[in-house]
Amino acid sequence: METKPKTIFKNSFEEEVHEGLTSFPKYLSSKYFYDNKGDKLFQQIMELPEYYLTGCEYSILEEHKSEIAGLFSSQDGFELIELGAGDGKKTKILLEEFMQHNMDFSYLPIDISQDVLTELEEKVRAKWPNLNIKPQQGTYFKVLNQLAEYNKRKKVIFVLGSNIGNLPHPKAVDFLSNIAASMRGDDLLFMGFDLKKAPHKILAAYNDTQGVT
Ligand SMILES: C[S@@+](CC[C@H](N)C(=O)[O-])C[C@H]1O[C@@H](n2cnc3c(N)ncnc32)[C@H](O)[C@@H]1O
Repeated sequence: METKPKTIFKNSFEEEVHEGLTSFPKYLSSKYFYDNKGDKLFQQIMELPEYYLTGCEYSILEEHKSEIAGLFSSQDGFELIELGAGDGKKTKILLEEFMQHNMDFSYLPIDISQDVLTELEEKVRAKWPNLNIKPQQGTYFKVLNQLAEYNKRKKVIFVLGSNIGNLPHPKAVDFLSNIAASMRGDDLLFMGFDLKKAPHKILAAYNDTQGVT
C-alpha cells in the first residue's frame, strides 16, 4: 500500500502556515499579521468608519470608566493584565481614570508584537511617569501559562477588540479555559465580544471601501 510522504517542516512558522492553508476553510494565525507594518495597518483600520468595534468599545469605556474603576479597585491594589494590548488606544481611557484617582495598580500589556509594545510603553511613560508598566512580548498561550504566578494581589484580565474572533473555535475554547485556570477568587475578566449583527455590517468592517484591510 502506498503511504503519503511525510512533510518535513523547517520551523513552526512553515508548519503552521502549511496546516492553515491546507485546511478547509483556510486560516492563518493572527500572530503572523502583526509586525511593524501590520501594527500600522491595524491602527489605520481602527480609524475606518466601517470598523465599528473601536468606536463602540471606546464609547462604552468612556461612559462607564468611573463605574469600571470602582469594580477593579481593591484594598491591596491590582494587576491589570491586557492580552493582545496593541497600542492601548482604548485602555488609556481607563489608565487616565485610575491615575486621576491615585489607584494602586500595575499595567502588564502582553502582545506578540514587540513594535507595538515599545510604542505603547513610550507613550504611557511619557504621559504618566509614575505608572508601573511591565510589557511582556509573547503569545497569549505562552504568557497565560505564567499568569497564575501573579497571585499576590487581585488580577484583572483585560481583552479588548474582540480579539477572540481571531481564534478558530477550539483555540478560542483553550484560550478561555487557560484564562479560567489562571484566575482565583476575586480576579476579574473584562472582555469585549462582538454581537451577532447584519452580515453586511460585519463584511464592510473587514472589507472596507478604502482597501486598508
Ligand atoms: C485586533 S488587535 C486588537 C488590539 C487591542 N486589543 C485593541 O482592541 O485595540 C489584536 C492584537 O493582538 C495581538 N495578537 C494577535 N495574536 C496574538 C497572539 N497569538 N498572542 C499575543 N498577541 C497576539 C496583535 O499583535 C494585536 O496587537
